[in-house]
Amino acid sequence: MLDAGIKTIIVHARKAWLKGLSPKQNRSVPPLNYDFVYKIKQNFPELCVIINGGINTSDEVKAHLQQVDGVMLGRAIWNNPWLLYDLQKQLFDRPIENNRDEVLHKYIEYCRAQINTGVKLHWLLPPVLNLYHGIAGNKKWKNHLVTQAPNRINDLSVYDEAWRYMKNE
Ligand SMILES: Cc1cc2nc3c(=O)[nH]c(=O)nc-3n(C[C@H](O)[C@H](O)[C@H](O)COP(=O)(O)O)c2cc1C
Repeated sequence: MLDAGIKTIIVHARKAWLKGLSPKQNRSVPPLNYDFVYKIKQNFPELCVIINGGINTSDEVKAHLQQVDGVMLGRAIWNNPWLLYDLQKQLFDRPIENNRDEVLHKYIEYCRAQINTGVKLHWLLPPVLNLYHGIAGNKKWKNHLVTQAPNRINDLSVYDEAWRYMKNE
């Protein structure tokens, strides 16, 4: 592998069962084996090893970084994108300058450009659906987005309407 020029690998710490489990079940049913990934790093120290699977908190990320070079997060960020804010602050000592609302406004500008190329609004929702995770109004925010966007595929005011729930308007 190294001879072929590979410098980085991302290893999912579960062994998928190709028979009997769906892709979704394979993300939770087979046991996690982080030691297996650590051993790859120990045996190939020159290889950049990135660990993945079931990692949820910044403390867990920090613990894994004692053993490997990087951590890939999937569902944790999907469920709570603002975890990236904490990680940026804790790991890189360089806080994200923007608050959630400012990030949203930047994202709306990105959506505007995407919609102009034919992308539909509801395809663009996932990255911001859980932006207000844990904050009062979050459920109504999400509900407004997922119910309105499929019918109003070019209409960015759906975001403004949903955002009012975060301001209790
Ligand atoms: C909604 C969703 C879509 C995914 N799509 C892919 C994919 O297309 N290709 C892939 O290799 N892994 C995919 N994965 C698996 C992730 O890359 C990751 O390995 C998995 O979610 C385990 O990491 P986590 O526990 O941090 O979520 C997907 C996971 C989720 C939750």
